[in-house]
Amino acid sequence: MRKWMLEKKVRNLLSGLCLHVAFLLGSVPLALGDRTPEELAAIMNCSKQDRHGRNYDYMEGGDVRLRQLFSRTQWFLTIDDNGNINGTQDPTNCFSILEIRTVSEGGILAIKGVKSQFYISMNRTGALQAKRTYSENCNFKEVFLENYFNAYSSAKWTKQNGKEMFIALSQKGKPLRGRKTRKENISSHFIPMKCREEERKIE
Ligand SMILES: *[C@@H]1O[C@H](CO)[C@@H](O)[C@H](O)[C@H]1NC(C)=O
Ligand SMILES: *[C@@H]1O[C@H](CO)[C@@H](O)[C@H](O)[C@H]1NC(C)=O
Ligand SMILES: *[C@@H]1O[C@H](CO)[C@@H](O)[C@H](O)[C@H]1NC(C)=O
Ligand SMILES: *[C@@H]1O[C@H](CO)[C@@H](O)[C@H](O)[C@H]1NC(C)=O
Repeated sequence: MRKWMLEKKVRNLLSGLCLHVAFLLGSVPLALGDRTPEELAAIMNCSKQDRHGRNYDYMEGGDVRLRQLFSRTQWFLTIDDNGNINGTQDPTNCFSILEIRTVSEGGILAIKGVKSQFYISMNRTGALQAKRTYSENCNFKEVFLENYFNAYSSAKWTKQNGKEMFIALSQKGKPLRGRKTRKENISSHFIPMKCREEERKIE
């Protein structure tokens, strides 16, 4: 990767709403003050909408995390108000803020768009859909891979050969049909990035 590309990528990650854990661990000790007023405004705006949109009236309890899922194909996963699941390269896109809640032991979790209030769901044929109400189709198993990447496979459905079907974003940022996904393919790899609002709460 050329140096300027890497710098651009790091800048993008740092100007986002959420932070890659590696940066928190101090491997890239860059100042966070390096933002344009537009970026700051967008971040403030999203946090404001988070608070209004947040809705805790389901599945009380369980571990809840606010994250952006950044794909190894370089897209942030989004669920918009029309129920479209898509990728964006805009790190300040509010639809990329996701609420990830642990549903049960063994890393089973549900992923919901904070602004759109849609769950990500996968049906029997491996199609990703946005759902207003939670069901077993919204359960995904978090698999830890190397280098901070995770993969998310349907906890309910598998391919006919018994293999897992994953949430995946193609090189063009489009969701892939679960049947086309493989754990080894980079389209299925995501880095969960920590969101600032949550950091502030923890501090
Ligand atoms: C803030 O959010 C509103 C509603 O989504 C949007 O119309 C507006 O453009 C946003 N402002 C900024 C600075 O991002
Ligand atoms: C998905 O994202 C792409 C790139 O950002 C955009 O061109 C496209 O219109 C989006 N599709 C939907 C259905 O929102
Ligand atoms: C799965 O979702 C796709 C896309 O929304 C839909 O066309 C298909 O009928 C669904 N299949 C089942 C079995 O629900
Ligand atoms: C990963 O998946 C995409 C989309 O299905 C495919 O085009 C690509 O060849 C796959 N890459 C590898 C290394 O398997």
